[in-house]
Amino acid sequence: MIYLDHHAATPLGAQVRRALAHAHEHAWSNPESVHQLGRNARGVREAVRARLAQVLGAKPADLVFAGTGTEALHLALLGFARARRSEGVRKLVIGALEHPAVLGAAQLLVREGFVLHILTPRAGQPFSATELADALGDDSACAALQWVNHETGTIFPIAEYAAVCRDKGVPLVVDACQALGKLPLNVTELGVSALVVAAAKVGGPAGVSALWHERCVELAPLLLGGAQERGFRPGTPDVAALAGFGAALEQLPERLAATANIALLRDRIEQAGLALGASVNGAESARVATVTNLSFPGWRADILVAALDLEGLCVSAGAACSSGLAAPSPVLQALYPEAAWRAEAGIRISLGPETSPADVDRALAILRKVVGRARQA
Ligand SMILES: Cc1ncc(COP(=O)(O)O)c(C=O)c1O
Repeated sequence: MIYLDHHAATPLGAQVRRALAHAHEHAWSNPESVHQLGRNARGVREAVRARLAQVLGAKPADLVFAGTGTEALHLALLGFARARRSEGVRKLVIGALEHPAVLGAAQLLVREGFVLHILTPRAGQPFSATELADALGDDSACAALQWVNHETGTIFPIAEYAAVCRDKGVPLVVDACQALGKLPLNVTELGVSALVVAAAKVGGPAGVSALWHERCVELAPLLLGGAQERGFRPGTPDVAALAGFGAALEQLPERLAATANIALLRDRIEQAGLALGASVNGAESARVATVTNLSFPGWRADILVAALDLEGLCVSAGAACSSGLAAPSPVLQALYPEAAWRAEAGIRISLGPETSPADVDRALAILRKVVGRARQA
């Protein structure tokens, strides 16, 4: 089996598995308990908070641990928008390529009376900072924009967007779930109001994420309950999963250092795809090294993904959370409105530091067999 679906979930390395097992044995207790076992668990959680703060260039006290990336994004977007809601301040600005997590949060707010403004790409390029500036005004409650696209790897000029939002006094939530481990990241230098990362995209376990937010921007909690995470994420946390996140963070430098090798492997896949007649989606603008998104003419993405899976190659069609659906990718629809077939056919092949040249050889043999066979038929 060859796993080329790293944008959906990353394999757990040996250190992460060891950290999970160790925490299950020694740090399973409630970190809010005052006794010794509680203090142990609290020590584990706080060490991970300090490590993540260092990675993000942030203060540990400004981080909120949550469950999934989806949850942390909802907390940020709903939290900012609801706290700023007033008769005149009802506009939300997002990009057309956002992950369903942000689209879903925005749709919830629309049901509460907010108005959505969606910025669309042009000729495969991200919208410009000027277009963002034109969309923001005194009526804007907040903006939520992704840094790296989950399907195509498109890198958005988030520092430029952040400068515009700051200038206009509108809080910006950055979805950095696909940016951590792929790009250097520093919230202080970026000057954004909130940023979300998820452990499962950097070799950590699923179900752990973090929201960094600026204290001076009011944030309304999603849930009410205990005082955990300063009351922004009440409930007993999964300390073992946090320990796994901490172990994954220790390996971020190696992950970033693997970028050049990953790019070479990705380029080989792309060349082979082009030779088989594919179009490369998102190639018009800057991309991270870990992904290629290919549309093979005549194929439906879900059918091709299933055919490749039968041969032992794991890839996906669109965001993993939507890939059970046979619907065309909304990201590719927004990128190529004039070429509907690309959204129907697009498959995402994503790599990580664990991907070897031999994996790519085998993956290409499968791709040639499946797509080549169909071309001959
Ligand atoms: C860009 C982006 N944002 C948000 C998420 C949601 O993260 P989670 O699946 O942890 O809720 C993902 C996950 O694929 C993602 O790729």
